[in-house]
Amino acid sequence: MPSSGSLKWQIALGLGAVGAVGLAYWYLRTNKNQTLQTMGELPQEKKETPFMKAQRYKVEGNEQFKRGKYDEAISCYNKAIETIPEEFKADLAMYYQNRAAAYEQLKKWSAVISDCTRAIELNNRYEKALFRRARAQEMTKDWVNALDDVTSVCLLQNFGNQSALLMADRVLKEKNAAEAIKNRNPIIPSKNFIKTYFSSFSEDPVYKKLQEVTDPLGQGELKGFLKAKLAFATEKYDEVIPACTEELNLSESESNYKIEALSLRGSFYFLTGQFKEAQEDFTTIIETKDADILVKVNAYIKRSSIYMQTEKLHECLEDFDKAAELGPNISDVFHHRGQVKLLMERTEEARADFQKAVELNPNFSVAVVQKCYSDYRHAMQSQDVGLLMQSMSDFRKAIERFPNCPETYILFAQVKTEKQEFQDAEELYQQAMKIDTNNASVYVHRGLLLLQWKGDIEKAVELMREGIKIDEKSEFAYETLGTVEVQRGNLVLAIDLFNKAIALARSEMEMVHLFSLRDAAASQLKIASKLGVGPDLLKGVS
Ligand SMILES: *[C@@H]1O[C@H](CO)[C@@H](O)[C@H](O)[C@H]1NC(C)=O
Ligand SMILES: *[C@@H]1O[C@H](CO)[C@@H](O)[C@H](O)[C@H]1NC(C)=O
Ligand SMILES: *[C@@H]1O[C@H](CO)[C@@H](O)[C@H](O)[C@H]1NC(C)=O
Ligand SMILES: *[C@@H]1O[C@H](CO)[C@@H](O)[C@H](O)[C@H]1NC(C)=O
Ligand SMILES: *[C@@H]1O[C@H](CO)[C@@H](O)[C@H](O)[C@H]1NC(C)=O
Repeated sequence: MPSSGSLKWQIALGLGAVGAVGLAYWYLRTNKNQTLQTMGELPQEKKETPFMKAQRYKVEGNEQFKRGKYDEAISCYNKAIETIPEEFKADLAMYYQNRAAAYEQLKKWSAVISDCTRAIELNNRYEKALFRRARAQEMTKDWVNALDDVTSVCLLQNFGNQSALLMADRVLKEKNAAEAIKNRNPIIPSKNFIKTYFSSFSEDPVYKKLQEVTDPLGQGELKGFLKAKLAFATEKYDEVIPACTEELNLSESESNYKIEALSLRGSFYFLTGQFKEAQEDFTTIIETKDADILVKVNAYIKRSSIYMQTEKLHECLEDFDKAAELGPNISDVFHHRGQVKLLMERTEEARADFQKAVELNPNFSVAVVQKCYSDYRHAMQSQDVGLLMQSMSDFRKAIERFPNCPETYILFAQVKTEKQEFQDAEELYQQAMKIDTNNASVYVHRGLLLLQWKGDIEKAVELMREGIKIDEKSEFAYETLGTVEVQRGNLVLAIDLFNKAIALARSEMEMVHLFSLRDAAASQLKIASKLGVGPDLLKGVS
């Protein structure tokens, strides 16, 4: 309820915790009380000054407020505001604040905000007004300003006000949820990521077509899919989707590449996190009767990975079954299903899938090394020493056979790290870096290795920073470095890194995970500040 200044205020003022404005306020209040006391003994109707008249309106307003008559309270405060002489700034601020309280009861948020703003203009440390404005801003979903105001309240009360802290936490979360939706701006991942994605399909006829060398100059003005193909070859990835759409807009007689355009556009929708659109394109391919079997199978695999990313595991596996039915000897189906099974820790099934993928396409290095890895996982799970030895020797053979495949080194290094054979892992990462110079993940993994092996946090951070330098779109690098910075107590830095990772997240699942990391860092920061590490740390939060 509105009241004319609380005891807390006076204590704070008395302790000199507030600046000049506050002291002036205190001085006024003390004197005014004395004045009122002396004057109370005099006949009121004759001696009533404008200030006293205003106070009378305010008291009346407070009475109305207590009775729940908010409109009446507002008209009393209106009169108080009109009547009071200009120099009584603190009282005027209080009247505005009280009127804002009445507007708050009536849920008139913009009136609450403008009255609080006036009160704060007159007294910039007016906690009640700041807190009330924060609440109204929260109601109007103005998260940024709400956070600023509630942070001010936290600071003014030295983080001792539980309801302000809770509100700060809540606003932060609401802000995040709003951002999650807003942040769904499609972001084109790094070139390296795009290449890795396409090259994980060994039998995609559209990708093969994209790689065919043609002379763009000899073909005049390109349009549709051919234009998309040129954009792909020249790494102008942002032009791919519009060019495919152009192809799909052409009439049947003009267009030769509808299925190809759908497949390529679907892939880019997927890569940019536009899952709904991607799913529609792949579904169109699947439902096209005369579409090439290989393209159709590829669409099933790609659609299933959308289901995977959106946590629809049942639909995901169903699509794989359909793909396997349609293309029983297409290696990609089994290779990709094996990865899903591995994630689900169904190592036995994963092994069978990779086995089949390798049988169908013995020269596909990625599938070969994934098979070694799933064998290793299964050996660990079932404590099968024979299989463990076998998988180690298969890894070594894979390296001999595919010395230029980075996955071989990376997966083997991960296995070596798990087995605490750190020196071997380090050498493998170094080799991977030589082959795959643009892969930030390798830097991050190597950093993690040094952390685990030698506790060398400086070197780990340095490697991760290098990773970010070579691929500034590496979500994994930002996220991992953020986690390391949390451990080092660099919370503001960590929050910034998590924000960068969030901006790159392609699915809501990833986003929610990153938000929780960021929230955890933010709340640690809050506690650190509470313990007196310094409130200026908090500036990094908003
Ligand atoms: C928190 O601060 C607001 C604004 O000053 C005040 O109205 C409220 O009573 C405080 N709450 C607690 C629990 O101190
Ligand atoms: C980089 O390395 C990781 C393993 O650390 C691998 O999974 C990924 O496919 C590679 N490529 C890219 C672009 O991340
Ligand atoms: C395709 O057609 C739609 C609707 O006819 C139109 O809005 C869109 O701009 C066209 N896009 C391209 C790239 O031609
Ligand atoms: C695919 O498998 C079938 C038997 O399931 C076989 O008849 C056919 O020749 C195979 N095709 C290729 C291209 O390997
Ligand atoms: C795999 O590669 C080897 C050597 O490059 C080649 O001789 C063999 O025919 C290939 N096998 C298949 C199934 O493509």
